[in-house]
Amino acid sequence: MSKMKKAIQDHYGPMTAKTYDDIAKKYFWAYPQVLEAVAMEALYARKNHLRNVKNTYSILDLGMGTGNLSETLLQTYFEISKTETLPKSVHLLGTDMSQPMMKEARIKLQKFSQLDFQIKELDLNNLLREIEGATFDTVISSFALHHLDSDKKRKLFEKIFSMLNPGGLFVFADRVSHGNCQEDVEEGGYLAVVADRFRKIFGSSAPDLEASIEILKEQFNEDGDQPSGLNDQIQWMKEVGFNNVRSPFLSFGCAVISGSKESSCSKEYL
Ligand SMILES: C[S@@+](CC[C@H](N)C(=O)[O-])C[C@H]1O[C@@H](n2cnc3c(N)ncnc32)[C@H](O)[C@@H]1O
Repeated sequence: MSKMKKAIQDHYGPMTAKTYDDIAKKYFWAYPQVLEAVAMEALYARKNHLRNVKNTYSILDLGMGTGNLSETLLQTYFEISKTETLPKSVHLLGTDMSQPMMKEARIKLQKFSQLDFQIKELDLNNLLREIEGATFDTVISSFALHHLDSDKKRKLFEKIFSMLNPGGLFVFADRVSHGNCQEDVEEGGYLAVVADRFRKIFGSSAPDLEASIEILKEQFNEDGDQPSGLNDQIQWMKEVGFNNVRSPFLSFGCAVISGSKESSCSKEYL
């Protein structure tokens, strides 16, 4: 097992998986809003891509963790399908490298009676090898791709593009580091907000703010966090063939980015 895989599996172990949802809401900046923004982008702003769905709407969630993004997207989808004609049959493939996180996701997704889902242990670095031949209408991901370095992200975008059905859409949310002075200040501000929340969770036993920021930076490093720039990621997506690449949400170091794979018969609108 690679060192990075072991670090991820240790970091997202049984204890983290049990407390992850509570911690994520308190700890991450705008966590529920960012997940909402992915669902809004996929199911309202760029809903046209669903016109290309043949019989079953197929979704792939990469680095699904405890399944919060899948849950948000599906809730929205089934809500819309009450009033609009959308494919009734929905298949979701959720992937992650941590079994305890996936166990929580399995429990969470069971409530969707109309959903057929499969959850699979999969390293983002071996995407194509591990899901051979499968294609999807929508690929989603949240707060997972920053575990890959720039080169691996670019390669992943290429693979995702090849796995999308014609007309399909890729939407992901992640921490972004913008790499210029103003945005480095934002990254510093982001760390300060997260550290302050972390101190509130741990109460009087927590270290002071400066020390908490240092602890966070160390944790992010150990956990293999390598956020890339917003403009770089948009550029890489364009280079591998995505159309209409854009960022509909950017707030304080977190961004949503989307791009479509144009089909010959339908033009995506913006
Ligand atoms: C911060 S959590 C985000 C989980 C979830 N998507 C969310 O929004 O709450 C990051 C997730 O990415 C997974 N992960 C990190 N590196 C990975 C890799 N190389 N392959 C697959 N999953 C990975 C971790 O196991 C973890 O569940």
